[in-house]
Amino acid sequence: MRYFVPLGTTLEVWQLTLTNQRAQAVDLSIFSLVEFCLWDAMDDATNFQRNYSIGEVEVADGIIYHKSEYRERRNHFAYLACSQPPAGFDTDRETFLGAYRGLDSPLAVERGSLSNSIAHGWQPIGAMHIRMHLEAGEQQTIIFLLGYHENPEEAKFDPPETQLVNKRTVLPIIQKYLQVESVQAAFNRLQEYWCSLLGRFQVNTPDIHTNRMVNIWNVYQLMATFNFSRSASYFESGIGRGMGFRDSNQDLLGFMHLLPERTRERILDLAATQLPSGGAYHQYQPLTRRGNNEVGSGFNDDPLWLVLSVCAYIAETGDWSILDQPVAYDNLPGSEESLYGHLQRSLQYTLDRLGPHGLPLIGRADWNDCLNLNCFSGSPGQSFQTTTNKDGKVAESVFIAGLFIRSALDMAKLVEKREGEPAAEYYLQAAKQLEKAVWEAGWDGAWFRRAYDDFGDPVGSTECLEGQIYIEPQGMCVMAGLGVMDGRARVALDSVADRLATPHGILLHQPGYTRYYLNLGEISSYPPGYKENGSVFCHTNPWIMIAEAMLGNGARAHDYYLRINPSNREEMSEVHRCEPYVYAQMIAGREAPTYGEAKNSWLTGTAAWNYVAITQWILGIRPGLDGLHIDPCIPPEWDGFSAERTYQGSRLHITVHNPEHVSWGVVRLEKDGIPVEGNVIRVDAESKEHQVEAWMGK
Ligand code: BGC
Ligand code: NOJ
Repeated sequence: MRYFVPLGTTLEVWQLTLTNQRAQAVDLSIFSLVEFCLWDAMDDATNFQRNYSIGEVEVADGIIYHKSEYRERRNHFAYLACSQPPAGFDTDRETFLGAYRGLDSPLAVERGSLSNSIAHGWQPIGAMHIRMHLEAGEQQTIIFLLGYHENPEEAKFDPPETQLVNKRTVLPIIQKYLQVESVQAAFNRLQEYWCSLLGRFQVNTPDIHTNRMVNIWNVYQLMATFNFSRSASYFESGIGRGMGFRDSNQDLLGFMHLLPERTRERILDLAATQLPSGGAYHQYQPLTRRGNNEVGSGFNDDPLWLVLSVCAYIAETGDWSILDQPVAYDNLPGSEESLYGHLQRSLQYTLDRLGPHGLPLIGRADWNDCLNLNCFSGSPGQSFQTTTNKDGKVAESVFIAGLFIRSALDMAKLVEKREGEPAAEYYLQAAKQLEKAVWEAGWDGAWFRRAYDDFGDPVGSTECLEGQIYIEPQGMCVMAGLGVMDGRARVALDSVADRLATPHGILLHQPGYTRYYLNLGEISSYPPGYKENGSVFCHTNPWIMIAEAMLGNGARAHDYYLRINPSNREEMSEVHRCEPYVYAQMIAGREAPTYGEAKNSWLTGTAAWNYVAITQWILGIRPGLDGLHIDPCIPPEWDGFSAERTYQGSRLHITVHNPEHVSWGVVRLEKDGIPVEGNVIRVDAESKEHQVEAWMGK
């Protein structure tokens, strides 16, 4: 359990309760081990000539303090403490492990005693040995604390003239959390916090995998993606990655009902890394709130995601005031403009960058970071994301066209409300203009094309040898409403079902690239079936679920949902090989030798989009600017489902009945027993609890 106490202190608490169920007394040895980092993620992993000589520790009253670099420019240290006096300790890794041994067979554990070693350089650790005697039937609880603490600059040392860590500041915290009652109280607070977060939306459907993910695990992952974006994971160590602009905006789509105030703050932080052109830094560092210069900007989809997140935020919260909030460009004081102005520039950015077919220029890359149409890199080690060898005036993206249309339609609604219909017309016309370009140059006959490369040749077309059909434009263009009325959306989604859908999820494209294409970039650098080269890149699957739900095909939408649902994949864990409660970035595709194997869990946009797909489109409980829409599109065999949701301060108890076993269509809606026209529930600030009942039918 991790618990945060006042600023400057972080505590991780392990509480272990042991019961002796035998008839005789037992003597136990418990060993605990932590490996300390030396405070600089990059230097620790690279600069061994220096960092193997800087390690320092202190051990006092059974507590191990890790204080590398404390004497000089740092004011922080780590510590390991235990509620029982240790029988021994080690702080030197090699003494604990023994020469030529690893963590699988530490010499100290084999021997049954530690050496009380003090680390001088090398790799400092905190190891403790606790001896415990348990009478028959006796129970004892033991607590370990792993802490981090910052001392005031002027009170670093105690006594002041020494170089010893001042422990007076931290001892009260240690003493407090070595008490079972304090730990229990902290644990209870943590549980209450999570219960109240999770309680904001709970569902009860006939499908256990839907319930498990929606009610607990998907939400837990949403918190991880909100906090870490795509950095600091098992899969990307070091400090290179910041918060992604497109990534964080998309993460918010699933997160905003949980903590609306933090969503607001994040939106404003993101907008402040926008550039006056309307473009955006691709990433920013959350501590400095500055854009990452090494990556820069020029990913032409980036600014549009801000429009989607802001529109969704207003639909969720009703907080229109966010649009008037002044926000700087590139964090430069004096450059402030309203967030509304930022959104206008986001959309204008696309309109100012149209290519030969009237489609948006792709820039460095759009959502698919590995489709690098202006890169043409032949040198190993060169970054595909930042190398541009072309002037970027030819390669276009159909995906961005779809994303633009979706965003412009959402924006038009905001504008209409603020400035009236004539002003909204600008965005409606722009959407029409781009739609025309898509039908003229972006439609391949049975699906949407993906892009045009720097030679002006199509990508994602029957004209291509490989990569003939891509998932992204099918999802995004249908989500933008393209072809929904005239049947072409259905044709595109049927092509997805025929060519891309597999039992393990929907592939990114087919066929995968079997050789490296200079004009396509990183996508063709992966072996077929992996990552962006034709795996099931899970982030994109919910777009198809949403598109299917928009066309009323609840059975298919939910079937796609289940194919990548981690809980549903638990039964094939020997193939899936990933945590059965967390979405992975990818599942190896049909062409991969390890077909069905998932990789890169936790930090993926899949978490947010799947949550949106299942809660807003399949279960159909969807915030809009006019209220909460109740518009389920479910498997027809379901008798219905129920849900509890907090929406704009009101608590809604929702029951959906499906007596005729249809897939889509609410025919009757009641709020507190009173019939409602249409399928939108409006709430006002006064009334806090509502019963909502919906009947689906033909
Ligand atoms: C990965 C992408 C990622 C990109 C930028 C590539 O190597 O395949 O998924 O977005 O790097 O970090
Ligand atoms: C991971 C990146 O963080 C994200 O921005 C991108 O859309 C996907 N990879 C696909 O390339």
